[in-house]
Amino acid sequence: MQILDGKKTSEDIKNEIAAEVQKMKANGEKVPHLAAVIVGNNGASLTYVGSKVRSCEQIGFDSTLVALPEETTEEQLLTKIKELNEDDNLDGYIVQLPLPKHIDEEKILLAIDPQKDVDGFHPTNFGRMALEMETFLPATPFGIMELLERYKVETSGKHTVVIGRSHIVGRPMSILMSRKGNPGDSTVTLTHSRTKNLEEYTKNADIIITALGVPEFLKADMVKDGVVIIDVGITRVEDASNSKGYVIKGDVDFDGVSKKSSFITPVPGGVGPMTIAMLLKNTLLARKIRSR
Ligand code: GUN
Repeated sequence: MQILDGKKTSEDIKNEIAAEVQKMKANGEKVPHLAAVIVGNNGASLTYVGSKVRSCEQIGFDSTLVALPEETTEEQLLTKIKELNEDDNLDGYIVQLPLPKHIDEEKILLAIDPQKDVDGFHPTNFGRMALEMETFLPATPFGIMELLERYKVETSGKHTVVIGRSHIVGRPMSILMSRKGNPGDSTVTLTHSRTKNLEEYTKNADIIITALGVPEFLKADMVKDGVVIIDVGITRVEDASNSKGYVIKGDVDFDGVSKKSSFITPVPGGVGPMTIAMLLKNTLLARKIRSR
């Protein structure tokens, strides 16, 4: 069994990007500039956005944090987005989700200039992904593809079962694994909450990608020997013995399932750390596209 180490791989990627930024600077070129917009005081979102901005600083990108109060109206946010779209000094930006309930998320995502949409959430970019055109891939699925590639996991002709059909993980993952290329060329089954007899699929899967949010859902008796496991679940589970009062659990019963796996991502330290690295990679691509 081999661990797919997202912590180490994400550090490798950040070092590679930092080296490229140094070269850009040495050549007198403009370095990538990422902005992150956050509305309100969601604790987890503030943490994520904080580490996105910090990572930019670490690797030599310019970064801007746009922190707006909870009461921001949809119209005010749309005005801000128009400003970011028109800012020639900015290569890409993200609007951290979820947004407060009084703001229509779909309207906001549609307002983002697809050429600056480094999250890859705009329908134009989602369509380009499905059509195998150059685009910004959503960071979590992109991170999974990168792990599979760097660890040389064979995906061609394999049966990949994706659990969960969310717009930011399960659905794009099912498309990426079925695309031509390596990784890819997989035969994909996309399962979800209405799937009957899920075990029939998981027991016949060569690769399982879970993005469900149910701690330790996938057990050893649900998988076959040699399976590749990608665990996207991150759920806080109360644990009084831990100093934080909680522990982070994945969707997979790691102790049981890892004994039958050929490759497996741990939680934490698997898929999670990859997402920021891939957002940075998208921002670097945005800069390169804009300088062509
Ligand atoms: N909320 C949870 N994940 C993400 C992400 O990848 N991007 C944004 N913008 N918001 C998120």
